[in-house]
Parts: sequence; C-alpha cells; structure tokens
Amino acid sequence: MNNGEVYRKLFVAFASETKDEFYKVAEEIIEEEEKKHNNKLAKDLRHILYNGFKVKTSLDQYKKSLPIPRDVERGLPLLEIKEFKRDWSDLIIEDNIKKNLERVVLENQKREVLEINGLKPKKKLLFFGPPGCGKTLAAEVLSTVLGYPMVYVRFDGLISSYLGETASNLRKVFDFIERGQWLVFFDEFDAIGKERDSPFEHGEMKRVINSFLQMLDNFKGESIITAATNHQHLLDPALWRRFDELIYFGFPDKERRLGVFKKYLRAIRTNSVDWEYLVDKTEGMSPADIEMICLNSMKEVVLSNKKLLIKNVLEEYIQKQQERIKIKDQIMSRK
Ligand SMILES: Nc1ncnc2c1ncn2[C@@H]1O[C@H](COP(=O)(O)OP(=O)(O)OP(=O)(O)O)[C@@H](O)[C@H]1O
Ligand SMILES: [Mg+2]
Repeated sequence: MNNGEVYRKLFVAFASETKDEFYKVAEEIIEEEEKKHNNKLAKDLRHILYNGFKVKTSLDQYKKSLPIPRDVERGLPLLEIKEFKRDWSDLIIEDNIKKNLERVVLENQKREVLEINGLKPKKKLLFFGPPGCGKTLAAEVLSTVLGYPMVYVRFDGLISSYLGETASNLRKVFDFIERGQWLVFFDEFDAIGKERDSPFEHGEMKRVINSFLQMLDNFKGESIITAATNHQHLLDPALWRRFDELIYFGFPDKERRLGVFKKYLRAIRTNSVDWEYLVDKTEGMSPADIEMICLNSMKEVVLSNKKLLIKNVLEEYIQKQQERIKIKDQIMSRK
C-alpha cells in the first residue's frame, strides 16, 4: 500500500460505525511492516493495538474498543477480559508449587534473554486437582504479577451444538489471544473430555480435541495459556504432554491450613483461638472450605455484637462445614 492508500483506508475506517474496519486496516499495516522485516515496529504496533490499555486511561475503556469473538449460533461472547489486584501472599501453597509458578513468571519476564539464546519461556500450564484449592486463584495471581490481563474462557461456553462450530469458536479464541499478551485461562477444561464420552457424540469432540492440540502446538503468541480442571481423569492422554508445566493443587497440609485460617481471620482478634484444634479438625478440607468457616464465624460474632467468642463459633462452623461436605460427597457418589 502506498501512503495515499493507507491514509484513505484509515480515514474510511475512522468514519465507519464499528471499530472492526479500523482493526482490519491496522492489521494490514502491521503485516506490511512484517513483510518489510520491520519486526520491532510491527511488534510494537500490535502491542499498542491489542494491549494498548497500558497507555490508555483504563482497561475498561480499552475493553470497550476490542472486538471480542462471539459464538455465531447464540451470539454469546467466547471470552471475558478480567483484571485483578492480587499478590503472592494471597496464595497459601506448598513451596515447590510456588517455586514452579515463580519460575514461569521469571522466564516470561526474561523472555527476550531466553530468545536471544534460542530458548523459549514456559507458556502452557495445566492446573489440576480438587475444587477450592487455588487453581483459579493462582491464575489470578500470575495475571497480576506479570501484568498480563486475564482472558477468561469457559470451555463449556465454547461448545456448540452446531457441527464444526466448536472448532471454529476455538480458532476465534486462539486468533484473539495470539495478538496480545494475556494470561489465558481455560476453565472447566475437562468439558471437552466429558463431552467426548457422551452417547450423543458422533466424532465431533474428537475433531475438537485434535484442533485444540494443533492450535496448542502451533501457538506462537506471547500469552501464557493456563488450563484448569478438577476432573483430570477425563482428559485425553494426548493432552498432558502438550503442557510445559503440570501443577497439582491438592488439599492443604497442617501448616498450610494454619496459614489459611490466619489469613482469613486476620481482621479480628484471635487471642482465644486454639489453632491446633482448628487445623486438626479441618484435615481434608480445601482452603475454600476454611475460608467459608472463617467468614461465617466472623459474621456470627459481628452480628451478635461481639458477645460470642470466636473460638466457640469457629468450632461450630467447622462442624457445619463437615456436614456440608458429607452431604456433597453422598450426592456425588450417587452420580
Ligand atoms: N491456596 C489458597 N490460598 C488461599 N486461599 C485460597 C486457596 N485456594 C482457594 N482459596 C480461596 O478459595 C477461593 C476459591 O478457590 P479457587 O477458585 O482458586 O479454587 P479452584 O481450585 O479454582 O476450584 P474449582 O476446581 O472449583 O474451580 C479463592 O478465591 C480463595 O478465596
Ligand atoms: Mg476454579
């Protein structure tokens, strides 16, 4: 394109009702720069175009201008952009898991040094393990620490009843994430495994899994892709080796349970609390269960105008949580 043509196209795009036209022209300009081997300029332009919120006033404003891919059949957005304010202290986790996560952060922060030496940072992570043990929270912490906003994708939201539409939805998501620098979070990742076993399945899911594997293998962007599941046994064996890091989020040990209690009770006076009792009675509970015990207990104390002792209330709510878990386990075992 000569300059005159570029100006004309940009002006037409500016005058059009949607921003799609502008994005098209901008992409053409970037591709031309790439062809001319002006890679640094092309990369910078792409960054400004898709991750430009860093120079804009707010992510909200930026999000409004982004063309979010949608499912053709239902018109629903295929992903959500989210931003968090978290830090490492939010995540109470075994030291080895934290080290693995910190390593992913370091490699991505030092991406250019690695690349000069012909190496690549880890960018495909699989988080697995029981509910409420920190998979989503860890992704939120990574997103904040790296400064990459989260692209949140629910796998079950991608699945369409129209033949071929699911794979096309996946393609749209990958096209979107390849252009920016995101912490991509595929939640309920097992949905593709689950659906595959369904009696209504006629090979469509196998095609979807194959497309997903191909997209994962060919992924060239600067984003980090994280997938999470609490039904890891449903995952296709071929999926596992596609990930650079497999991280298991299990139930917390005694020391971690104590950490979770202290974190969620930090807003109140805890002189009377018998920590040893709390950690002994909550073996096998998730941090989310313990968080619920703490929040319910604190509400109870506040509503009683602090006439109740937090120690006794915590003991009562531990018992209630144990009952809830028992009911849930009974229901699950009937499934
Ligand atoms: N390791 C942890 N340290 C501190 N708080 C935690 C931890 N794990 C979970 N929590 C608390 O429980 C909430 C729910 O946890 P989270 O959403 O990360 O669970 P999950 O592993 O993603 O579960 P699911 O498999 O159901 O999606 C968190 O927002 C946080 O408040
Ligand atoms: Mg989760």
